[in-house]
Amino acid sequence: MNFKEAAGVQAADVVTSGMKVGLGTGSTVYYTILELGRRMKEEGLQFTGVPTSEATEKLALELGIPLAELWELEPLDVTIDGADEVSDSLDLIKGGGAAHFREKMVATVSKRLVIVADESKAVAKLGAFTVPVEVAVYGWRSTARRVEAEGCVAVRRERSGEPVRTDNGNYILDCDFGLIVDPGAVDRRLKSLLGVLETGLFVGMADTVYVAGPQGVRVLKQ
Ligand code: A5P
Repeated sequence: MNFKEAAGVQAADVVTSGMKVGLGTGSTVYYTILELGRRMKEEGLQFTGVPTSEATEKLALELGIPLAELWELEPLDVTIDGADEVSDSLDLIKGGGAAHFREKMVATVSKRLVIVADESKAVAKLGAFTVPVEVAVYGWRSTARRVEAEGCVAVRRERSGEPVRTDNGNYILDCDFGLIVDPGAVDRRLKSLLGVLETGLFVGMADTVYVAGPQGVRVLKQ
């Protein structure tokens, strides 16, 4: 079992029958979703999920997990999701998979946010990973200029020479701030800018983090 799988599978334990569950996006929570699908089939676990991306929706449907819209189920009991960085104070950078807008919407209406990650994601302070910022396509160069005025270098995310579009049809700016001393302040400043839809900074949201490494799975709590 690799580290992502170890963290992902163990975190699935937080789900019990009857729960309303936010299903995150990425290669670590993938294992959580597989494990939830297994428990559903083999152990009779019953729950309803809200997916945070089209990829997760597809996976959940393949596994036969019942899904609903966010507005139908909120508040959710728990959301389980991955992260690109987890700081000592359990603040996060997310959005490496461009899903952070929906992830933040789902996590915000969840009573708990549980994060799954391998050891490579754990840092003392955020900032080695660039902060993904979802921006409207219209006027994105102007938005990028406003974002850079906040003290970063912002690069539009591209794949094979084409701009990446999120599930919402928007662009992503990957913003290099260097070490981030006050992620809450950076998040608030970015969110106040015209054209910015959401940032990948999740500050004070995670209450439990499952981090897997060679020594096994550590469970960090807020
Ligand atoms: C999706 O946009 C991200 O927030 C993911 O949750 C994050 O990139 C973690 O992904 P992995 O588990 O694939 O590393």
